[in-house]
Amino acid sequence: MSTRKIGVIVGREWSWPPAFIEEVNRRDAGVSAEFVKLGGTHMAEVSSYDVIIDRISHEIPYYRTYLKTAALSGTRVINNPFWWSADDKFFGASLCVKLGIAHPKTVALPSHSYVEGVVEESLRNLRYPIPWKEHVEYVGSFPAILKPAWGGGFKQVYKVNNFEELWRAYNETGTECMMLQEYIAWEKYVRCIVIGQEQIMTIKFDANAPWPNRYFRDDHYLTEEESRLVMADALKINRALGYDMNTVEFALKDGVPYAIDFTNPAPDFDVNSLTPHYFDWVVKAMADFTISLALKGRTTPTEYAWGHLIGGAVAPVAAEQPAAAKPKAALKPGTGDDLTLINGIGPVYARRLEDVGITNFVQLAAAGPDRVREAIGATRLPIDAEAWVAEAVERSK
Ligand SMILES: Nc1ncnc2c1ncn2[C@@H]1O[C@H](COP(=O)(O)OP(=O)(O)O)[C@@H](O)[C@H]1O
Ligand SMILES: [Mg+2]
Repeated sequence: MSTRKIGVIVGREWSWPPAFIEEVNRRDAGVSAEFVKLGGTHMAEVSSYDVIIDRISHEIPYYRTYLKTAALSGTRVINNPFWWSADDKFFGASLCVKLGIAHPKTVALPSHSYVEGVVEESLRNLRYPIPWKEHVEYVGSFPAILKPAWGGGFKQVYKVNNFEELWRAYNETGTECMMLQEYIAWEKYVRCIVIGQEQIMTIKFDANAPWPNRYFRDDHYLTEEESRLVMADALKINRALGYDMNTVEFALKDGVPYAIDFTNPAPDFDVNSLTPHYFDWVVKAMADFTISLALKGRTTPTEYAWGHLIGGAVAPVAAEQPAAAKPKAALKPGTGDDLTLINGIGPVYARRLEDVGITNFVQLAAAGPDRVREAIGATRLPIDAEAWVAEAVERSK
């Protein structure tokens, strides 16, 4: 068998990339890993990598444009460069509402200022003055959070206690698109690392502790119920956004996890912040996941995932009458599909489904969520059988 290849694109981080590359190569699983080297890309060029892990294309536009073409050539890029380009925190807030995940009330605001050339008449669709009082009432008054819709690294995150502070902060934000957000007076705060939409590690996190010591090992920090809720929501968010490498932060108040920050497609994996315990976990989890992807081979991305999860045209039909919708009688028994192509199904779950005779999309669609749950049996984390069935219906069309 020829060796499959995983490439890594990195910024200045020094600990995770070499540790990951070494872990993959050490396993000798028919897959090798290395740093990607680029000097210019021809249009429609076929990338030599089966999988590329992208840690920095948000800061290096040439990498992003290369990765989109690599994806077109069948390389599995982590994270999906198309979605990453489209994503923002305000869309995430709206998506949470649709998915039934608790999220602080949030308002997107017109920017404070604009790039040169944008003049008064370019802004005729904007209502002035901004109805600040209305917005503050909507988010539950003060204190409130003001932060960017395209944010990260704690930049420009303000906690404001009155209108004067709000306006002072807003006046500093320039061309940034900001959001005003309900402040959650949390009792507990966690950050979950989610890999491949299946593996998850929940860690106590304190954003106010001095950097880099913000992660704390406390295996009993959350109650069992809190832990269950947090993991279920973290997985749901990742499956909806289609991210395979992400961190999801939750503020817990009165036992309810509020999703605070969940669009981190190049999460901090530094050993000094994660601590060796969690660092080792993420090196291994990423190696497990990407090796299995590389061995699976190349496919081009076809769609975004969240459509299935918000009750669009497909989901309800799929749940109620999948078999009738598309019988596909012609399919021969034993004709297997790769079930791991379905969001949320990895090699372990695929095997359990195959054990009960569900080996292709048509059978999965016909089985319905209850039978799927039964087939999967006990899991550490809840599964989204409805979404699997809905996706199977789509894929068997
Ligand atoms: N709505 C909120 N309620 C309470 N605290 C918040 C809220 N939003 C952000 N924070 C605090 O600010 C920190 C940084 O905000 P976050 O949204 O995570 O931005 P970034 O993407 O820059 O990390 C969070 O870790 C949390 O401690
Ligand atoms: Mg954050």
